[in-house]
Amino acid sequence: MTNHQIIFEHKTYNVKQLFTAAQLQERVKTLANEINAQYKKDEPVIVLIVLHGAILFAADLIRGLTMPTGIESIRLQSYHGTSSTGTVNMHGSLPESLTGNHVLIVEDIIDSGRSIHMLVDKIKQVNPKSVRIATLLDKPDAHEFDVNADFIGFKIGKNFVIGYGLDLDGRYRNLPYVGEMIPA
Ligand code: IMP
Ligand code: MG
Repeated sequence: MTNHQIIFEHKTYNVKQLFTAAQLQERVKTLANEINAQYKKDEPVIVLIVLHGAILFAADLIRGLTMPTGIESIRLQSYHGTSSTGTVNMHGSLPESLTGNHVLIVEDIIDSGRSIHMLVDKIKQVNPKSVRIATLLDKPDAHEFDVNADFIGFKIGKNFVIGYGLDLDGRYRNLPYVGEMIPA
């Protein structure tokens, strides 16, 4: 189903809905239960939200977690338009609360794996009790770095996707569904 067209840098794209709002809600609920099963009931977990993309996913996921949960965030930036710049920019420093605690990184999407690879390396330097990764979307065919997410919402192909937090140059994060951009 094509929902609408986007013109970006003089090219026209059809936006095809990949996951409806209802499908996202259902999967995120199940994913929260998969995560709950991997942690002790009473042991605190710090959820580290990767801004801005994971903000909607994290808000829904956290409501399904049953262990004592802290929330922290870090902002990473690597994309310009629909392509990666090849460098990852981390704004600010890591929260101090990660040290000695279980850390669950919550990310919107793993593409090349560059961002999450760098983030995991940095987190390990501050000595957490454990580090795990939950990502809404994973593009396994696009990986260039060794990254294995512990919890994956959906595996998808290589096309650029928008909505439910994911942006095209800062826009379309508000779409309640995830849509794939297909050149028209
Ligand atoms: P990576 O470092 O190549 O794995 O890229 C990860 C980051 O790039 C994600 O956290 C997103 O912010 C952004 N990104 C990668 N693919 C897409 C996409 O299809 N749509 C929107 N953002 C994306
Ligand atoms: Mg992101």
